[in-house]
Amino acid sequence: MCGIVGYVGKNNSCIKVLLDGLRRLEYRGYDSAGIAYLENEKIVIKKESGNLENLSNVVDASIDSNIGIGHTRWATHGKADRKNSHPHRMGKFTLVHNGIIENYNEIKSDLMSKGYVFESETDTEVVCALLDYMYRTDKDILKCVRKLGSVVEGSYALGIICDDCKDSIFAAKKNSPLIIGLNGDEKFIASDVPAILDKTNKYIILEDGDYAQIDADNVRVFAEGKEKFPEVKEFEFSLSDIDKQGYEHYMLKEIHEQPEVFKKTTKDYLKDDLNNLIDMMPDFNKYSKIRIVACGSATHAGLVGRQLIERFANVKVEVNTASEFRYDKLFLDKDELVIAISQSGETADTLEAIKIAKNNGNDTLGIINAKGSSIAREAKMVLYTEAGKEIAVATTKAYSAQVAMLALIALNLAVSKNIIEKSEMLSILRDTKNLPNYISILLDDDEYYRKVAESIKEHNDIFFIGRGIDYALAMEGSLKLKEISYKHSEAYAAGELKHGTISLIEEGTPVIAIVTDEKVASKTISNIKEVKSRGAYVILVTNKEFEDNSFYDEKILIPKVNELLSPLLTVIPLQIISYELAKINGCSIDKPKNLAKSVTVE
Ligand code: G6P
Repeated sequence: MCGIVGYVGKNNSCIKVLLDGLRRLEYRGYDSAGIAYLENEKIVIKKESGNLENLSNVVDASIDSNIGIGHTRWATHGKADRKNSHPHRMGKFTLVHNGIIENYNEIKSDLMSKGYVFESETDTEVVCALLDYMYRTDKDILKCVRKLGSVVEGSYALGIICDDCKDSIFAAKKNSPLIIGLNGDEKFIASDVPAILDKTNKYIILEDGDYAQIDADNVRVFAEGKEKFPEVKEFEFSLSDIDKQGYEHYMLKEIHEQPEVFKKTTKDYLKDDLNNLIDMMPDFNKYSKIRIVACGSATHAGLVGRQLIERFANVKVEVNTASEFRYDKLFLDKDELVIAISQSGETADTLEAIKIAKNNGNDTLGIINAKGSSIAREAKMVLYTEAGKEIAVATTKAYSAQVAMLALIALNLAVSKNIIEKSEMLSILRDTKNLPNYISILLDDDEYYRKVAESIKEHNDIFFIGRGIDYALAMEGSLKLKEISYKHSEAYAAGELKHGTISLIEEGTPVIAIVTDEKVASKTISNIKEVKSRGAYVILVTNKEFEDNSFYDEKILIPKVNELLSPLLTVIPLQIISYELAKINGCSIDKPKNLAKSVTVE
C-alpha cells in the first residue's frame, strides 16, 4: 500500500535518498509515484503514473536539495494517473499521505465554497487545502497539523512541507504507520524502516494522534499539545537481510528460508522438556473458546490452526475474516480469547478487529511478525513469529511461521490439559527436529513442480480440493496461485464440489487434490475419482502410498509426519507450483499487479 519517505538534513543528496527509499518501499504495492523537493528556495514536484522508472526518467537526481518528501501511491480515490498521484500541493502546503480520509467529501464542499479549486479526485488534496485554509487564520503550522486530528476522520500518515518553514518536515499519524529515522544531522520519515536502512537503523515510532516537526538537528514529537520523548529504537535487520541473496525473486528466497524460519519460531518453546512451551505462553486454559481474526493468508493460517487446536486440545475455535468481523453483530463472550494473526501487524481491518475485541473487554493476543507494529502494540499479549523481513507481496514464510505458532498453541493446550498421549508427544518432538530437513527435501524437488506447472500452464481455471486440514491448505494454495499467476482458481471443500462446481470440470481441467488428513482421506479420494471420471487432470499432493494409481495424473509425495506439523510440509509444493506457473507466464512475481503487501486501508 502507499509508501512514504522524507528527508531533511545537511546533505544535498535528498533526491537520491527519496528515490532509493521509494525503491525499497516498492514491495508494498503501488501504481504511481512522486517526489517534492526544495530547489533554489522553490518546492518542485515531479510525479508519474506507473512504476518508479517512469518517475526516475523525469527527475535529475544530481540536483542539490536538502529537504523533500516522496510517495508511492496505491490508488483508492481516483485513477492511478499523474494528477491523482502524490505529492499534492495547495497554497503554501505540499504533502504526501497514506490512508483514507473518510469525511473528505464534506470537507471538500466546504473548502470549495471558500474558493478552493481541486485538480485531483483524491482525499489527500483535500487535507492539503484544509491545512492551507486553517493556516491562513492560525499562522502556526504545528497547531494546524494538530487540529487535523479533530477535523479529519479516517486514517492518515502525513509528510508535510510548508512554504513558510522550508527547513522542516511536519508529520502526523493516525491508523497508518509512520516512523522517523535519525542519523546525526540527517532525519527521515518513512512508512517503514527498510526504506531508509542504508542511512540508519535508529528510529522512533509515531503513535496514533502523534504529530511532529523534524529538521536537520531536531525531532520534536507531540501528542495533544504536549511534547513527548519517544524511545529511540534500533532496527534488528541489516540491508543484507532484505537482499535477494542470489535468488531470482524475493518470493523464491523466502520459500527457501522456511526450514530456518520454522527452527527460529519454535526453538524457544521446544527445548528438551516442555517447560518453556507452558511457561513462555499465556495461560490459554482460562478461555472457553478462541476467536481468530485475520485477513488473506493469515486467515488461512487461522483455518489450519482451528483444525489443530480443536483436534489436539479439544477447544472450540472460530475464524473470522477481520473485514467482516468488524461490521458483523458482535457475538463475543467475555471469556473468549481473540487472536489477531498478521505478518505486518498493520493490516487496517485486523487492527480494527482487535480494537473491537478489546473494547468489548476480551483478552487479545497478537501472532505477529513485525516487532513493535500497530497490532503488536494494541493487543494485550503478543507471540512473535520469527519469519524475518518478508518482501514478496504474496506471503510464504510468514504464513508458515503463523501455522507453526498455532501448532505450538495447540500443543501447549493439549499438554497443559493433559490430554495428549506420551507416545504422540514424543513423536511430535522427534518430527519437530526433522521438519526443517523434510522441508529442504521438498524444496529440492523444484524440477518436478516446474514440470507440473508446465502441464497446467494453458489452463485458465484451476481447482484445489481437500477436506479438513487439507481444505484449509487448498484455500492457501489457490490464493497463492491466483495472486501471482493471475490464473482463476478456486478452492473447494472436496465434498461440496458436486453441489455445483463439478459442472465446470471438463476434459483436462487441472484439479490439485490434497490428501493428508487421515480422518477424511478415503472420502476425498472418492471425490477425486468423481472429478477424474469427468476428465480432470488430477495433481495429487499426499503423504500416502496407494496401490491404485488410476485416479491421479501427477503425484507429489510429502514426508509423513505427525498431523500437527504436516501442513508445514504440504504447503511447500503448493507455493512452488504457483511460483513456477507465474514465472512461466512472465508475471511480476514479487509485486503482483493491484496487490499490496501491507493493506493499511480497509
Ligand atoms: C495482503 C498480503 C497477504 C497477507 C494479507 C494480510 O493481502 O498480500 O499476503 O496475507 O495482506 O496481511 P498481514 O500483514 O495482516 O498478515
